[in-house]
Amino acid sequence: MTKGVSMSKLVKLSSGQMPVLGLGTWRSDPGNVKAAVKTALSAGYRHIDAAWIYGNEAEVGEGLVEGLKENGLKREDIWVTSKLWNTKHRPEHVEGAVRETLKDLQCGYLDLYLMHWPVAFVAGEAKTPKDKDGKVALDRQLSSDQSTTWAAMEKLVDQGLVRNIGVSNFCVERLEKLLPQVRIKPAVNQVEMHPYLQQPKLMSYCAEKGIHLTAYSPLGSQDSHLLQEPVLLSIAERHNVDPAAVLIAWAYGRPNTSVLPKSVTPARIESNFRAKDIALSEEDKKQLDRLDKHHRFVNPSGAWGLDIYCEQGGQASL
Ligand code: A2P
Repeated sequence: MTKGVSMSKLVKLSSGQMPVLGLGTWRSDPGNVKAAVKTALSAGYRHIDAAWIYGNEAEVGEGLVEGLKENGLKREDIWVTSKLWNTKHRPEHVEGAVRETLKDLQCGYLDLYLMHWPVAFVAGEAKTPKDKDGKVALDRQLSSDQSTTWAAMEKLVDQGLVRNIGVSNFCVERLEKLLPQVRIKPAVNQVEMHPYLQQPKLMSYCAEKGIHLTAYSPLGSQDSHLLQEPVLLSIAERHNVDPAAVLIAWAYGRPNTSVLPKSVTPARIESNFRAKDIALSEEDKKQLDRLDKHHRFVNPSGAWGLDIYCEQGGQASL
């Protein structure tokens, strides 16, 4: 491991402790992601976030195997998360989905398995199936009420295939609807979060319910204008670090949250990990806190034809 690098702090979940800073792998193409995972493990990352739909889990798996070996680590020294895709929400498809992911990742179990979206597509070969009008073909019943799919995910915990289960892209209204119906409470909700989308309502709701919140796209995802934000640039200059490092330090310091910056660039993977050690001043944090404007970089609501985040009227049903 890179000398002098501190480890990420941990958060205790229902089963085990999750490193607060992890590596994202969305849009990490298969040709690069194996090396990225290995670089990350060498740099000190102990948390890798994957998903079936990213189409790169087999290469992530190769990176895990080689990275563990080269760094003298064991499977239990790291935290691996993956996610159930929207076409696999029918209860009879859930176990097969996680088994495929486990095989690709070359893991005997997952530390965390998330329902990727509160949206079920019609099951089949197509990753995003279309109806005869060219619109995304939704399974309306399973999209209105996630409890049937959730019950199938609970069974994965009973079987020891996954240690924790959680959700992703859930708004307060959908959590409110799901929670009374669960046997095992979601340990985590993974959502987009950064200074332009600070999610204060979701943060206080999840804190109250004991659900940990994880930030994806903490840099605003690719082609983001967040990295050009003048307030951010001036804080970065003061600390003599790049703007991404300030975003990661800000996210790392927020209570009850964790953060998953994605990169396939070795120098960035390393500097993103070191960013957790930057001590932002109270004034820096205040300035970043003031940037919130509820701006999403990731919103497939239009493409999928439903109000995923309950922002147009607050309804959790279709
Ligand atoms: P790359 O993977 O080519 O290094 P997010 O985590 O918000 O989804 O953002 C990911 C995007 O940010 C990717 O395009 C990634 O590019 C880029 N990125 C990652 N780390 C940095 C960094 N330290 N500085 C600038 N851009 C970065």
